[in-house]
Amino acid sequence: MIRLVIMTDKNNIIGHSNLDDYFERASNWSKDRIAEIDRIFAGDSMVVGHTTLPLCLDSVKNYKEFYVLSQKTDLYSKTNKNVTFINDYSQLVSDYKDSEELLVIGGGKSTWELFLPHAKELIVCIDDKDSSGDIVFGDWQSLNKVLVEEKIWSGGTTQHYQVRK
Ligand SMILES: NC(=O)c1ccc[n+]([C@@H]2O[C@H](COP(=O)([O-])OP(=O)(O)OC[C@H]3O[C@@H](n4cnc5c(N)ncnc54)[C@H](OP(=O)(O)O)[C@@H]3O)[C@@H](O)[C@H]2O)c1
Repeated sequence: MIRLVIMTDKNNIIGHSNLDDYFERASNWSKDRIAEIDRIFAGDSMVVGHTTLPLCLDSVKNYKEFYVLSQKTDLYSKTNKNVTFINDYSQLVSDYKDSEELLVIGGGKSTWELFLPHAKELIVCIDDKDSSGDIVFGDWQSLNKVLVEEKIWSGGTTQHYQVRK
């Protein structure tokens, strides 16, 4: 099963094109926010885009498989036991679309765009405060979906949707 997981704000800001700005912001995250991030990004396996990889190196070990999308073919041979670089996202779609195993699509923007048409579930965590980033992603809003769970926590609201086909 394919699930998109997105942290955003009311303006659909999802991140920083300068990763240093991201790390600066993340250094001020509350314990509650970190706990919520751990909760929503949990799953059997994870795929992120190459740009996002530096943001999640500490969590690679939490997944059975950790895939990184890249078109840089020289990286494929450097696959180690923790991270698998891949080019063909459609292979992951066919492996996980109808599987009971959960593949979390962890971002960023270009990676969500690829998997959005194949998602069965969507978790969106919307910050109460405006975010300081400069990357916008709101395509998930036009999905035909039903809200199955909503959790309000100190810092935001997390919505869990099932996607209608
Ligand atoms: N708010 C959140 O929940 C959240 C979560 C994760 C990330 N983010 C944010 O998202 C930002 C990054 O987003 P992004 O869209 O710039 O980058 P991204 O999706 O993380 O990664 C883009 C990279 O993935 C590879 N890629 C993309 N499409 C591909 C394809 N069809 N086939 C093979 N490889 C492909 C390419 O790597 P190569 O250049 O190696 O070919 C590309 O440069 C970060 O700044 C971060 O702040 C936010």
